[in-house]
Amino acid sequence: MSVLFVCASPRGRQSSSLWLSEYVEAALPAGTEVDRVMLGDLGLEEADPASDPRLEDLVGRMRSARVVVWVLGLYTFGVPSGLRLLFDRLLTTTATADFAGRGAVALLTSARFQDDRVLDRLRLVSEQLGFGWIGDVSVLGNPVTGFESGQPLVRLAKRIAGEIAEVVQGGPVPPARSLPVERSVLAPGPDRGPGRGDPLSDLASPGPDLRGLPAGPSPILVLTGTSADVDPSVAEAIAAIRDAATRPVEVLDLARVRLRHCTGCYACNRELAGRCVQPDALQAVRGRMSRAGAVVVVSRAGAAMPDLALRRLAERMWGDCHRPPFTGIPGAVAVVRGGPVADLAGDDLALFLSLTGIRVVGRWTDAPPDPEVRRQAVALEIRRLERAMDEGVDEPDRYSVTASRLAFRDMALRWSFYLRADYRYHRLNGLLADRPRWRDLGFRLMARSERLFRAMVAGGRRTAERRHAHRLDVLRRERGQA
Ligand SMILES: Cc1cc2nc3c(=O)[nH]c(=O)nc-3n(C[C@H](O)[C@H](O)[C@H](O)COP(=O)(O)O)c2cc1C
Repeated sequence: MSVLFVCASPRGRQSSSLWLSEYVEAALPAGTEVDRVMLGDLGLEEADPASDPRLEDLVGRMRSARVVVWVLGLYTFGVPSGLRLLFDRLLTTTATADFAGRGAVALLTSARFQDDRVLDRLRLVSEQLGFGWIGDVSVLGNPVTGFESGQPLVRLAKRIAGEIAEVVQGGPVPPARSLPVERSVLAPGPDRGPGRGDPLSDLASPGPDLRGLPAGPSPILVLTGTSADVDPSVAEAIAAIRDAATRPVEVLDLARVRLRHCTGCYACNRELAGRCVQPDALQAVRGRMSRAGAVVVVSRAGAAMPDLALRRLAERMWGDCHRPPFTGIPGAVAVVRGGPVADLAGDDLALFLSLTGIRVVGRWTDAPPDPEVRRQAVALEIRRLERAMDEGVDEPDRYSVTASRLAFRDMALRWSFYLRADYRYHRLNGLLADRPRWRDLGFRLMARSERLFRAMVAGGRRTAERRHAHRLDVLRRERGQA
């Protein structure tokens, strides 16, 4: 088999990235052997990665392909958590020799907010797995309204199909751009050990926001993506925070919290409050965050990304990025065992926290080899954090945060799809002032009327499906004539 499409959207067959991949498939030369894996159907084993026949089967299919194509939508500035899990498993169980001489491609659909961040990461991970990076396509699209008409969608699909075909027909794969990163960094091992249950299970029932309130001053909430009892570096980070803090410190081990992955249902966009509607511990976690005096996130950097549990949290809090609930709470980000890619995972986390309203005032890694120096580094950052808790943060945001926030808002504004969670913010901040009045009126109606919003979404989907079928038809006919 020549080309393997690995489709990672949690929306499965209803996803827009799948549509994009179908254009690419239809543009491949007739006779090209193609295989397709829907990651959601595969159901990779999270608990016991060592003996997962589904993973072995997938690795076998990847090895027999000449080109592997990652097909995905962008989920809160990152890859869908199913793909994050797959990367973890591949980096743990394979060696670069397994995929040497093969090419990788990414097909991404999104609102184009931070698409390049994710494409760069996909390239890095693919190269570390042993693939040569052929290229990528990133298009504006969503599964509800489809693709923006007028964008060079089909031309891009044909271009990348041509590049894939060259490699399938024996052309060279490009050499790596990235230097090798140790597997101990990219695949740092399990994130949670056996035993102890979900620390929030008693809070996952209705009304979590009112329970478990700690007495006394607001605590520093430490969210860890890996359990302290499976990774001593995480334990060391927590101990250093406790030593340095003069406030109570509350630790929430997200690796043990039952957080489902985002299903891509878009309810967070439909909901005025922007909250995820899946019934699990998410609201309890959000409750803890909103009551915290400060939030510190501790992660490793497997696959050069935040831990899986933190990836899930970010995905599920997409609506919170649109309607930030934690405005004014100071925060800090720590990445342990991240080696040369620590800053990549740290940047992802800082961006996520910033868009939920948290002001990231501290950051550190465990780079210093001397444990005493590492402790000092943590102490300095915790002092800075506590000062921000006492005095507030009046320092203006730096360029990257300001630019990201503005770009995010601008894109949300252009995409009326995000309206319901965003509308109030846009109106309060005067962002609708210089827009055509009819559009503002349309926004207002949709923000008020659930029915109108649903009708618009259903109508958009029907049109999108019609256009999709037409594009595929044209591409297939062209191939037939070639
Ligand atoms: C939970 C969630 C998070 C999203 N995060 C981003 C994002 O960070 N940047 C962006 O440009 N688009 C984002 N989007 C929009 C999706 O990337 C876009 O709709 C994409 O087409 C979905 O692909 P799929 O249908 O293949 O899953 C998000 C959508 C959802 C539902």
